[in-house]
Amino acid sequence: MKFFIDTANVEDIKKAYKIGVLSGVTTNPSLVAKEGVKFEDRIEEILKLVPEVESVSAEVTPDAITAEEMIAEANELIKINGGDKNITIKVPMNIAGLETCRYLNKKGVKINVTLVFTVNQALLAARAGATYVSPFLGRLDDISEDGVLLVSKIAELFRIHNLDAQIIAASVRHPDHVTRVAMAGAHIATVPYSVIEQLTKHPLTDQGMEKFAADWVKAPKN
Ligand code: G3P
Repeated sequence: MKFFIDTANVEDIKKAYKIGVLSGVTTNPSLVAKEGVKFEDRIEEILKLVPEVESVSAEVTPDAITAEEMIAEANELIKINGGDKNITIKVPMNIAGLETCRYLNKKGVKINVTLVFTVNQALLAARAGATYVSPFLGRLDDISEDGVLLVSKIAELFRIHNLDAQIIAASVRHPDHVTRVAMAGAHIATVPYSVIEQLTKHPLTDQGMEKFAADWVKAPKN
């Protein structure tokens, strides 16, 4: 399973990139709004910052309701950074989003279908030509449903029917989510930097380092 970072914050992206774990970036209107910068400018900055990743998701805005409106926005977004091949257009899981997905797939543009909460939605998105489908597991857990189970069912369905779409486990809140979606067959987990940091930690690692440091003081030096 690969890691994408789920943020529009440049400093967090730099930190994840530096440690070699980053395969992509996902943003959404809420994450961009937090940054207080113009959406297109931030996407361009991110594309320039991480040229080696496979995908940087830029979502059509909530102002785009019809497929025509989504397609018009997508056609502007794909020009960012000179038509960067990494740009991935994120569309919501609805009829207009699927129509936009089909259009962009024919154009050879990568698409991430977001706000997926059922197996049927994932199947439709894959059939419409999505490169990625994003089930939001944390938000399912929030309403007492099993987000990881959804990921595992989508993974099984894609295997049975040889569907190429990759599953991005999204709305990932903590390390146990990461382990469980990896075991469930997600191709990618998109996570905030705080979760990446948590993944590196274990109390025995800290204790071990403290013991090495304490013993090292006692070791003869020349
Ligand atoms: O990737 C989706 C994510 O940004 C939503 O996460 O925690 O707001 O449900 P959350």
